[in-house]
Amino acid sequence: MAILKIARMGHPVLLQKAEPVADPTAPEIRKLVADMFETLDDIQGAGLAAPQVHVPLRLFIFRVRTERSGGDKDDRPIGNTTVINPVLTFLGGERQIGWEGCLSIPGIRAAVPRAWRIRYEGVDTDGKPVVGEATGAHAAIVQHEYDHLDGILYPMRMVGADFMHFGFTEDLAKAGVPEFRRAAPL
Ligand code: NI
Repeated sequence: MAILKIARMGHPVLLQKAEPVADPTAPEIRKLVADMFETLDDIQGAGLAAPQVHVPLRLFIFRVRTERSGGDKDDRPIGNTTVINPVLTFLGGERQIGWEGCLSIPGIRAAVPRAWRIRYEGVDTDGKPVVGEATGAHAAIVQHEYDHLDGILYPMRMVGADFMHFGFTEDLAKAGVPEFRRAAPL
């Protein structure tokens, strides 16, 4: 196990389209996923995609902590989850706007529009199917991590130049910018 170095915005690996994982059960993939979880634990993050640790492959890990979860039946707290070669389907036309941060853009957050309800499927490191329907924070986290596999960072999803809702976490907190309600689809 090892704590991996996280690529920060500006590194080209974050802007490239990642390649499918040829064998999700390969020992090197199992090791990569274990190291990614150790890295995520170390930095106390919600999700991490392989390109963020300089590996341009289509896999990500995530969890939904109790404090993030919106309580909706598809937005309950969820433990450590690995999704390899994910396919994302958007369900319904509802949108949400919620605060997002990214381990590759440390210290900053922004309000980002996302689909409210999605379905995702992939496999884990045993090759077993991983299938989930997600709403709210759960859906936003999965979309954020999936975007990393296509070289998309969350500021690229922002609507216009909304600098009232884009800044350093610490300063936004000082300014008292209100939290968005994730539970309210927009
Ligand atoms: Ni990110």
